[in-house]
Amino acid sequence: MSRWVLSYDGYDPAAEGVREALCTLGNGYFATRGSAPESSADGVHYPGTYITGCYDRLVSEVAGRAVDNEDLVNTPDWTALTFRVAEGSWFSVDAAAEAGRLLSYRQELDMKRGVLTRFVRFRDEAGHRTRVTQRRLVSMDEPHLAAMETIIVPENWSARLHVRCPLDGRVANRGVTRYRDLEGRHLTVDGLTRHGDDILCLRTTTRTSRIGIATAVRVRTSPEAGRVTHTENDHGVQEMFLDCVQGVPVTVEKTAAIATSRDHAIEECRIAAARWARRAGPFDDLVERHVLAWDQVWRRCQISVDVEDAQRILNLHMFHLLQTVSEHTVDLDAGVPARGLHGEAYRGHVFWDELFILPFLNMRFPEIARALLMYRWRRLPEARWAARQAGHRGAMYPWQSGSDGREETQRLHLNPRSGRWLPDHSHLQRHVGLAVAHNVWRFHEATGDIEFLAEYGAEMLLEIARCFADLAAYDRAADRYEIRGVVGPDEYHDGYPDRAEPGLDNNAYTNVMTAWVLCRALDALALLPEDRRTELRERLALTREEIERFDDVSRKLKVPFHDDVISQFDGYERLAELDWDRYRAVYGDIRRLDRILEAENDTVNRYKVSKQADVLMLFYLLSPEELDTILTRLGHRCDADLIDRTIGYYLPRTCDGSSLSALVRAWILARVDGEDAWRTFLDTLHGDIADSRRGTTAEGIHLGAMAGSVDLVQRCYAGITTRGDVLHLDPRLPPAVTSLSLGLRYRGHWGIDLTCRHDRLRVQLRPGAASPVQIAYRGRVVTIEPGSFWETEVRADPAGSPRPDSARGAASRGRPTPGAGR
Ligand code: BGC
Repeated sequence: MSRWVLSYDGYDPAAEGVREALCTLGNGYFATRGSAPESSADGVHYPGTYITGCYDRLVSEVAGRAVDNEDLVNTPDWTALTFRVAEGSWFSVDAAAEAGRLLSYRQELDMKRGVLTRFVRFRDEAGHRTRVTQRRLVSMDEPHLAAMETIIVPENWSARLHVRCPLDGRVANRGVTRYRDLEGRHLTVDGLTRHGDDILCLRTTTRTSRIGIATAVRVRTSPEAGRVTHTENDHGVQEMFLDCVQGVPVTVEKTAAIATSRDHAIEECRIAAARWARRAGPFDDLVERHVLAWDQVWRRCQISVDVEDAQRILNLHMFHLLQTVSEHTVDLDAGVPARGLHGEAYRGHVFWDELFILPFLNMRFPEIARALLMYRWRRLPEARWAARQAGHRGAMYPWQSGSDGREETQRLHLNPRSGRWLPDHSHLQRHVGLAVAHNVWRFHEATGDIEFLAEYGAEMLLEIARCFADLAAYDRAADRYEIRGVVGPDEYHDGYPDRAEPGLDNNAYTNVMTAWVLCRALDALALLPEDRRTELRERLALTREEIERFDDVSRKLKVPFHDDVISQFDGYERLAELDWDRYRAVYGDIRRLDRILEAENDTVNRYKVSKQADVLMLFYLLSPEELDTILTRLGHRCDADLIDRTIGYYLPRTCDGSSLSALVRAWILARVDGEDAWRTFLDTLHGDIADSRRGTTAEGIHLGAMAGSVDLVQRCYAGITTRGDVLHLDPRLPPAVTSLSLGLRYRGHWGIDLTCRHDRLRVQLRPGAASPVQIAYRGRVVTIEPGSFWETEVRADPAGSPRPDSARGAASRGRPTPGAGR
């Protein structure tokens, strides 16, 4: 199988949901699942088309309470198409497969070209054998257009072919079984209109957000067909009749144009969509321009390893990331939904996952990264309001964010195992604000964009820092600050078993990252030109006392310890150890121990069991040097052994209930040469493609883990960090990879080409780069001029080098025996 093609042979209804998600096509403006065009939402198939940032809120009654949920809206299916020979039955892959009349079936996703092709051969009940080739695209060239070409070849018949292309506004969000008790009808239909002979346009409006959405569909055939069009107010159908001759192909081209009332440079969305559908070129022209546009995208994604299967999945991960956010997202004021535009899980909400996504974009598509940060900046007023409501200064970002940046986290969630609706305290994950701040800073490091920092970035950093400095309460007796009542990244622990109110005290990840963010906020202020600094301080009414408090809190926040390791939170040591073997023996997959224990009338809060990396996130986000600096500032030593012991302690107690955790595990093991490093990385790579989270991929891809896996290759294997004006390199290739090469953008330098082998490292600055670049490698700093390169032998780690020696032992000792329920 090629490194650019994802293919499926045969038809398997049970795997259809996963294929649909993985064969989704999108362009950053909208995306359409790879569902069979003749299908409807019937439990096997789930057609879905989602437009970036198009949310709607509905109120539902759950467990006697009114709850509101904002969803990314499923819009009318532009792909719908079926056909029959003479008066036979309508083609459906399921009917053909059930009757044993599906002769062959293959799907190919060509990631390089962004084209999905379906090859079908079947026989109908009357013995007509037909070959169908269906190609589709969602244009990367013209973000409002999509198209599908269906070529039908009558293999052994000559008869009349009847083709139906419905367009239906009676669509709802029904893609996630556990949300089915919730209201899902987000669209009201304004009407269906005809535009000439071959175009139908459906105008809908979301019920609460009142976004107008127009879906125009043009159908043309070759040879030309007789046609009849039926329309009702909320749905319509174009029917075509073609007299087919055995062996002679006929072609049906469906072209769709999608517009919303939020688009720029339009008069009205129905008018716009109908015009665009009319003007669109034929399928082959659309393909040509679309492929060219993808070509340009791929040129900025150069990242290659000489392990074929890994490379193919890395390509798939980049493909889905860039279909979710692209240059077409830049003007849309949108965040990045955790599950892509590929399904309805998590309702299209934006979590902290951009933490895992931005590093890849920073070094390749900084304009997209900047746009995602702007989504946060525009929601600063809402975050300030949230902070004020909670009695704090500054800005408090929501754990789950949607249209306007208010807290979208559900207050009740369903445990499908017990059938109980339970209180959901995950909104107490205040650390999401720290992730936003971290992203601002890393963006600045990678791009050096001082204008962004001065206009937007520093404001976010300072307002977030302000909120956390305010959350920190001073304990005079201990001369320490404490942050109480929060939830860390590990969502399993949302409170103490013996305390009524939710939340934990002094989550180490939150506290250490708070100290780090406070320092970066001060750094950002210091970096600004004098006039901009004064202006910002005045605008934010930031006083000298407040700045002193930032400094004080960043030195005195409490970091709990027990057994010579960093404690996940105060009192962690009092929790019980879980009998992992017993649970694994009984349940097999124990990644959702929270649900298992709750169904047993127990609670995961009683145990030393983490859903996901929590303390371990510190080793993922901060380099050992940064961690040492911040812990030293907080009055602790961060020697090699502490990292070693802490990794060894938590890895086995983490059950990777989140795909992000599996990624962090892979990262940590890779960086410390852990025994299971490569296998763990491969597990992460196969997360979605193998649907290893048991059915969750069908509801949407895990975008953080996908993007993070590519970033792992770039920042972890190639060892790239951006600090000051210097690009630091510390490659560490796994034994399975003999060569890794990357093209990067760094601080306006486009591009830097890097080739790492086990024994050599080569860095080249392409000709035409505006200025030289500085590279640091093992304590040496070299300057590379445009058009020249630098090459060095890679020596074994020098004795005493802090990173490699620090944790190598830990990784071996910390074999993920109990928890890693892969
Ligand atoms: C994880 C979160 C993550 C969210 C969305 C949850 O399962 O616990 O950390 O942000 O999924 O991906």
